[in-house]
Amino acid sequence: MVDGNFIASVDIGSSKIVVLLAELKNNRVEVFGYAQASSDGVRCGVVENAKKVAKVIEKIKEEIVENYGTDFQHVSVNISEPNLKVLNQSAYTHVPSGRVRDSELDTVFKIIESMAKTKMPDNHQTVNNIIHHYTLDANPEPVNQPLGKKADNLGVSIHTVSASNHHVEAVENSIYWSDLGLSSIVPNSMASSEPCLTQDEKDKGVCLVDIGSGVTDLSVFKQGGVFYSSSIQFGVEQVTQDISEAFNTSFQEAERLKIEYGQTQVKLGADTLIKFQQIDDSNYYYLSHESLIEVIRQSYLELFKMIRTKLNNQNLYRSLKSGLVLVGGGAKMTDCDKLMHSLYKKKVKVGRINTELISAKYEWLGPEYACALGLLLFGLDDSKSEQQSSGKNSFLGKMGFIKGFKFL
Ligand SMILES: Nc1ncnc2c1ncn2[C@@H]1O[C@H](COP(=O)(O)OP(=O)(O)OP(=O)(O)O)[C@@H](O)[C@H]1O
Ligand SMILES: [Mg+2]
Repeated sequence: MVDGNFIASVDIGSSKIVVLLAELKNNRVEVFGYAQASSDGVRCGVVENAKKVAKVIEKIKEEIVENYGTDFQHVSVNISEPNLKVLNQSAYTHVPSGRVRDSELDTVFKIIESMAKTKMPDNHQTVNNIIHHYTLDANPEPVNQPLGKKADNLGVSIHTVSASNHHVEAVENSIYWSDLGLSSIVPNSMASSEPCLTQDEKDKGVCLVDIGSGVTDLSVFKQGGVFYSSSIQFGVEQVTQDISEAFNTSFQEAERLKIEYGQTQVKLGADTLIKFQQIDDSNYYYLSHESLIEVIRQSYLELFKMIRTKLNNQNLYRSLKSGLVLVGGGAKMTDCDKLMHSLYKKKVKVGRINTELISAKYEWLGPEYACALGLLLFGLDDSKSEQQSSGKNSFLGKMGFIKGFKFL
């Protein structure tokens, strides 16, 4: 969200909480501020203790203010929720004047809102409305901006994302209790996909997988828009846990082994020995690199099988003509894309940030920051909608410009 000229995002993760500050320059988001701290109060991506999360965010905010001399107020934040729902709905209305006006847009949005209410579970609320496209009369050609265009009938196709009330409240409280304002809440994998996927991939069918520490979030896109979002409460902290159990190490030692020596496929050549320490033991021991790789491989395979089952259950697996794109800290594991490819027989790659949309220091462009970076793009949409929809309700403004942004 823009304060003055700034846009800010908060990525609430299971292992880290990140705040990014950026400004819009020449149609590109330029990130100039970053701070991160270890997470607290979050389990498997879900905010369990909003007070603890708020405390961490407050600390990060102070650091940003001190380091960059810049205060900020409103932020876009992610939500990771096991029961997320995406509704894909269309609505139509007659255009009496022969030219589309605000009142017809209002009408189709109201129809969408009331349809969503009847379809969403009682304990759910809308967190995001994203326009897929508009149509005019019987012409199937999608239109991005219908205002003022000649037509007798207007159609709109919208993705409504809903999440359970208590998860949304926990995220809202984390932000409000850290003395910040909220501009938008965006499902984790939808935020991560924004700077990483191309429109062509979304048209052909692609799954964005954000492999985090405590949770794996995924969003499937087809026919140009988001079709399905979900999360699996299994992240790569489990890989660390498996290493620690296999070699009887502390969690910290297992994490060190994972980061320093981790890979998911054995490479040709002689095995090597790795020095390590066991729990509550000051002696040093040696383990074979291949045995470490095998533990990591099995953990990743378990996760990949869960993802595939989820996609199969939704009948989405076959629609992924552009394959899968991996982000999140878990995607940094050497050759995890190759392992997934060998299992899925589909195109798999580690996501790269589109630097035509966002520029930042190289170290802030890693896959673990895809969500925080993507949130900035949603924050940008909100700021534009607020500036340009004065007098309109935020639902209308936000929806118009979320779609508009995609054509920057
Ligand atoms: N170079 C690396 N190789 C392998 N794993 C890595 C690497 N760097 C980070 N990780 C792992 O990535 C995980 C953290 O990922 P990430 O920062 O995306 O999680 P998060 O956003 O805090 O949590 P979540 O999204 O699950 O709520 C940790 O388990 C860490 O061990
Ligand atoms: Mg994350």
